[in-house]
Amino acid sequence: MTTTLVRAARSQPVDRTPVWFMRQAGRSLPEYRELRQGNQMLEACRTPDLVTEITLQPVRRHNVDAAIFFSDIVVPLQAAGIDVVIEPGVGPVIAHPVRTQADIDSLPELTAEMMPDITESISRTAAELATRDDTALIGFAGAPFTLASYLIEGGPSRNHEKTKAMMAGAPEMFSQLLAKLAAMSTTFIDVQLSAGAQAFQLFDSWAGYLSPRDYRTHVLPHSQRVFSDLAGHDVPSIHFGVQTGELLPAMSEAGSTVVGADFRVEFTDASTRVQPGQALQGNLDPALLFAPWEALQPRIEQIVRDGLSHSGGHIFNLGHGVLPSTDPEVPGRIVDEVHRISTALLSG
Ligand code: CP3
Repeated sequence: MTTTLVRAARSQPVDRTPVWFMRQAGRSLPEYRELRQGNQMLEACRTPDLVTEITLQPVRRHNVDAAIFFSDIVVPLQAAGIDVVIEPGVGPVIAHPVRTQADIDSLPELTAEMMPDITESISRTAAELATRDDTALIGFAGAPFTLASYLIEGGPSRNHEKTKAMMAGAPEMFSQLLAKLAAMSTTFIDVQLSAGAQAFQLFDSWAGYLSPRDYRTHVLPHSQRVFSDLAGHDVPSIHFGVQTGELLPAMSEAGSTVVGADFRVEFTDASTRVQPGQALQGNLDPALLFAPWEALQPRIEQIVRDGLSHSGGHIFNLGHGVLPSTDPEVPGRIVDEVHRISTALLSG
């Protein structure tokens, strides 16, 4: 049985708008904070008991239409043997940043055998979800550019200046690096899909820092490669980046089934910027979850209506991740409201 989320991604008829939230698992949930006490983020990501439980927590609490696999975009780098930690409140920090040709040449390769825990975590989560009615499991990876930025800068970056310096000054080296990272992302997703994930999202979180020209020249071919190398799985894919209103036409050419819209673009504009009939995901501003319900409800309703008017399918989501201090009761209310409004509009 295909799920509502998979049908919406494929722009097939649905009886409600499916909804999930980026970062639905994590610090906004007290039950997550409790489970994460005393363990490191990347350790937790490699422990199937914890991964399965944390992935399922938001499904139970919010009744979302999809679980997103609990992991991180740097897990495949770590699995390949790269020295990386996630520092709380900071993000991924790389011990030996990648700056020279020799650094790129010595990057390790990632193989499925290095991640038996990922297979186990996905299989167990998929088996649990199969006992529910209609909940998809979404796998994911970081896109080559976003991973490259962490590796080159050595950690989170405000301006991505070292990354852009390599891109412009040593384009051949930059391209080799992105090709290697594309292969790692593909392997990471391939393992997840082989173990039972029913869709995947490629996060190019920092692509929005690029001009459309630089994006098309230096990044798009590598993201395209990830989607084309995974096409054999025949599952829907989602392509998302932050602040990508200007980049949507280019990102929509990468070959994903669905394009994710950040909250800074009007949904109706995003609708004209993707391929005809291509599904959209998004795009409620995560900060609006702090607004009173009377102010939030019309925003939800507008996005549901805009989604139903779009020429392709619509998956309701935020325009970036759930903020850690979000009231954990609010996402579930949004799920109910999206379902209520869309069911009424679709049956009427
Ligand atoms: O629910 C989900 O969305 C699934 C899990 C998930 C995490 N990270 C868990 C996580 C996913 C899909 C990611 C992807 C990810 N990781 C991205 C792309 C998505 C995006 O937000 O644009 C990026 C850029 C990263 C890198 C990263 N990892 C950052 C910037 C941080 C935050 C650092 C901090 O402490 O503020 C992390 C850590 C991280 N990844 C946490 C979680 C739940 C917080 C760790 C904790 O609980 O201490």
